[in-house]
Amino acid sequence: MTSTPPSIIAIDGPAASGKSTVGEAVSQRLGFLYFDTGAMYRAVTQAALARGIPIADEAAVGELAATIHIDVMAPTVDDGRQYTVLIDGEDVTWALRTAVVDANVSAVSAYPAVRTALTRQQRRIAAQGRVVMVGRDIGTVVVPEAPLKIYLDASPEERAHRRWLELQQRGQDADPEAILTAMRARDAYDSTRKTAPLRAASDAIIIDTDGMSGGQVVDEVMRLAERFEG
Ligand code: DC
Repeated sequence: MTSTPPSIIAIDGPAASGKSTVGEAVSQRLGFLYFDTGAMYRAVTQAALARGIPIADEAAVGELAATIHIDVMAPTVDDGRQYTVLIDGEDVTWALRTAVVDANVSAVSAYPAVRTALTRQQRRIAAQGRVVMVGRDIGTVVVPEAPLKIYLDASPEERAHRRWLELQQRGQDADPEAILTAMRARDAYDSTRKTAPLRAASDAIIIDTDGMSGGQVVDEVMRLAERFEG
């Protein structure tokens, strides 16, 4: 690479659009921090469930988001994780990937008080630079000033198929139709919520990944990173 890569690369997109695979690979190639902001919304959800705070209690969940300490850091254990997440010092990395967290995280991430608390923390990390930040509202809300904003898209059918393959590889059996239905429900929820709905920033580069391999998407993002200095 001859030019300086942009100091912040924002990658947004719906569930299973390839954000985490691509974000991790690009951050490794550039020597940047990989920061998956979805992990923070999952951490608040997990903490609420673990403490018996009803997910429907918006005020209590918002208060929790403002008071717990969430750390997202490079992996501390070599067990296939992309990063380690600590809540008040306790390793909760795998607890964030359960079906009960999946089922409740959209509701938690729709609460304005939760978004305010987490956006503040995410901006602090972004300000350090040299970061690939992945989420739903990075280019629109968290760091709209990021020099390179990417929006990864794919059809619900393709994303449901990817999620199904992922589960198969982990030895978990799943019904493809049920995955597609859940995917559509989460898309609808994430893109119609009032605060920071999922959408591409007006100056984001949209990559439609249907029919593309992960490697091809990574190469495309790297090509863009070479063009955008920052
Ligand atoms: O990417 P993920 O599936 O881990 O995200 C979990 C949830 O968090 C998802 O329902 C959308 C929400 N989210 C968000 O609202 N804003 C972000 N920046 C990242 C995730």
